[in-house]
This record gives sequence, structure tokens and C-alpha cells, in this order.
Amino acid sequence: MSESFRFLSKELPYMTPSPLRLFRLPLLLSGLFILAGILANSGCKHRPVVDMDMPPDDTTQVQPCHPDTVYFELQILPILVSNCALPGCHSAISPQEGIELTSYQKVMQTADIKPGELKGDLWEAINETDPDKRMPRPPSPPLTAEQKNLIRTWILQGAKDLACDPTGVCDTVAMSFANDIQPILNTYCTGCHGGSAPLGGINLSNFSGVSVVVNNNRILGAIRRQPGFSPMPQGGNPLPECHINQIAAWINQGAQNN
Ligand code: HEC
Repeated sequence: MSESFRFLSKELPYMTPSPLRLFRLPLLLSGLFILAGILANSGCKHRPVVDMDMPPDDTTQVQPCHPDTVYFELQILPILVSNCALPGCHSAISPQEGIELTSYQKVMQTADIKPGELKGDLWEAINETDPDKRMPRPPSPPLTAEQKNLIRTWILQGAKDLACDPTGVCDTVAMSFANDIQPILNTYCTGCHGGSAPLGGINLSNFSGVSVVVNNNRILGAIRRQPGFSPMPQGGNPLPECHINQIAAWINQGAQNN
């Protein structure tokens, strides 16, 4: 060791290329690298191996959800399935006027979406004030301002098929019917199970209607797609795991009107 220090401090400026020195230099350098590596690692053992600052448009890795970005599968498709892909409307079996609103591909192929522009059949139909022209048609309720706003932002953000991983933010503690559960049902269910003629006679747009399917034990089996239940949302993707867990937690916590 004293040999090495001497080499660095005194002999380096006068280094002569003797065969022995040339052999020692790489050995010394690699020793220093290993030492530096040990020091660097010991200070931060939990530093993740993967770089977390991936660019947001990297499609090979699912990103955590960003609050300002609209995600098609997570936020737009459920609205379309619940409100538009009803039997006899824009479902796969009965695509009225060729418009099928059941997947990103079908929406882009058939619904006249103009990325970045608030135009086209779908945008105009949901904003129509004449009930005879408006989509969804009565007796279905019109889309809410919040739902239209999401579709608006999605179109203006380029009508992309972005995905994100919502599990990092899944909270199931102290669920509130008004703040946690009803918003999920409004997004995924009340297009069919709301309005003046709710499908299956099941109304999920208020607490008393939801209580019926909690008390008869039909709701969890349906959203978990268990045998003996009709899989819900009908004709759509399963609810994200987080929402299933939140609904189950709310029921476990007493299914209160809170
Ligand atoms: C596209 C329309 C549609 C959507 C969206 C939809 N449902 Fe349904 N749902 C129906 C129809 C039609 C029935 C009655 C026929 C049947 O049971 O299949 C039904 C039946 C049910 C039943 C009774 C099922 C059973 O096996 O007893 C429950 C519970 C239910 N829905 C809950 C939900 C929930 C919760 C959501 C949202 C996560 C949802 N539905 C979304 C159309 C829909």
C-alpha cells in the first residue's frame, strides 16, 4: 500500500516506462475503481437499479398515472362502454350506423375522432342540445359535464391510447360512498344502470339503488366476474383491480351512506 502511494505522489511525474511499472498501473487503477464502487454503493444501498425518470411517452413501460393526462382505457373507454355501447346502440353486436364504441381501435376507426380538434361525430353528438339528436339518446341521461370534459381533454391531448398504472395510488382506507364509490359507478355503470329506465331494473346512480345489489350480494360477484354472476361492466373490460378493492372495502366497512 505504501508502495502505491509513493507511486502516485512522487514517482508519477518522473514515471519511466519500465516493464514493471507498465504492468502495475492497470492493477492499481482497477483497485481504485473497485474501492470507489464499494464506497459509492455503501452510501446508498436502496438506490433503484432502474432509472425512474423514463420519458412519459415510453410505451414499453407502464407509467404511474399523471393527474393532468387522460388515459383512454382507464378514463374514456369506461364512459363509452357504459353510456354508448349498450345493447341496440353502439355495442359489438349492434353497431348503429357502423359506430362501435368498445375498444380504442374501434373508436378510432368508426367514431370520426379528430385528434386535437373539437369536431367530428362523437364530439358533436355528446354536445347536442336537441334531445332527438343528442347521444346518448333519451331515456339515457346525457353525459355529465365532468365526463364531457374528460373526452374534451383526451381529444385535445391527441386522442391517444395512453396507459398508466393506477395501483400506486390505490387507497382503500375509510371509503366514502359519495367521494369514492359513487364516482366509480358513475364512470363505469350508470350509463346502463341509471336514468329513467335502468337496465336489469338496477339503479346504481344513488345510495338506495346501490344498497339493493349490496344487500342481495350481487355486486361483488358481478364485478369480480365469478361464476353464477353476469360479468360487469357488461361488454366492457373488468374494473381496474383498485376499484374492485375499493368497493369491497366500502362494503366491509359497513356499506354506509357516508
Ligand atoms: C353496457 C351496459 C351495462 C354496464 C356498463 C353495466 N351493466 Fe350491470 N347489467 C346490465 C344488464 C343489461 C344487466 C341485466 C342482465 C344481466 O344480468 O346480464 C345487468 C346486471 C347487473 C347486475 C346483476 C348481475 C347478477 O348476476 O345478478 C349487477 C350487480 C350489475 N349489473 C352491476 C353493474 C356494475 C357494478 C356495473 C359497473 C361496474 C355495471 N353493472 C355496468 C348492463 C350493464
